[in-house]
Amino acid sequence: MITLKSEREFSKMAVAGRCVGSVLDAVRAAAVPGKTLLELDKMAGEIIAAHGCTPSFLGYQPSPHQVPYPGHLCLSVNDVIVHGIPSAYRLREGDILSVDAGAIFEGFHGDAAFTMPIGEVAPEAARLIAATAAGMWAGIAAVRSGNRLGDIGAAVQKVGEGQGLGIVREYVGHGIGRSMHEEPQVSNLGTEGRGLRIKNGMALCIEPMFNLGGWETSVDADGWTVRTADGSLSAHFEHTVILSKDGPQVTTVANGPVPTSTFALTGPLRYHSQPVSGTLLT
Ligand code: MF3
Ligand code: CO
Repeated sequence: MITLKSEREFSKMAVAGRCVGSVLDAVRAAAVPGKTLLELDKMAGEIIAAHGCTPSFLGYQPSPHQVPYPGHLCLSVNDVIVHGIPSAYRLREGDILSVDAGAIFEGFHGDAAFTMPIGEVAPEAARLIAATAAGMWAGIAAVRSGNRLGDIGAAVQKVGEGQGLGIVREYVGHGIGRSMHEEPQVSNLGTEGRGLRIKNGMALCIEPMFNLGGWETSVDADGWTVRTADGSLSAHFEHTVILSKDGPQVTTVANGPVPTSTFALTGPLRYHSQPVSGTLLT
């Protein structure tokens, strides 16, 4: 069942989203060579609490056979696609780091992610990051009342395929609200004009995961860490988008919510108004 949110509920999602945006900004600034993933996770926990929010991820247990998730953030390095558990690993120059955060305010969630280079990275890694950000923005631009879910998938797919990247299929975007994961599933592949119609009151997380190699994935023995099956690098970008009476808006920015049209004006390679380095192949 798809739940439609009221304006009052959207205002709670806006508070959660601003918290998530602040967490991501802080982690982006702190993620330098030598930092451990646990240090970043601790900082995230403090910022979430300072916003009067609670973490979405800590203790999250999608099924009873799975270990409850043990962090505030997912921190996914290099070939880890998503759900990397914060560890004592020290970031190294040349790594790429995906940071995913979620927060709850008065029962409503925000969820967002980005991938960043640690110091100088290989040109291929920078291109992967830029392409994944562009894929997310293309998907976000398709989140409009009257469009269909296939329009989002098609827009994301076009960017990924245009860059010759592997588009992850087994993990997808999702509805969001009182639960972090609600219906519908939002695939990163699709056909224009197909699928469920998008309408006001919906809230969707748009989150492409692109790989330098193939799309296939594998999960570590810890039950969480998702890697590329071929060991290639992976990037992930995500925002929470609400369809309120004021049109589509991104909630997960520190000063949000922000109309998605604002982002369209600044171009697809910007994230949180910060340029993403890397050149797309045209
Ligand atoms: N943010 C992720 C998503 O978009 C979920 C994180 S899984 C958790 O689906 F276990 F860490 F919560
Ligand atoms: Co998500």
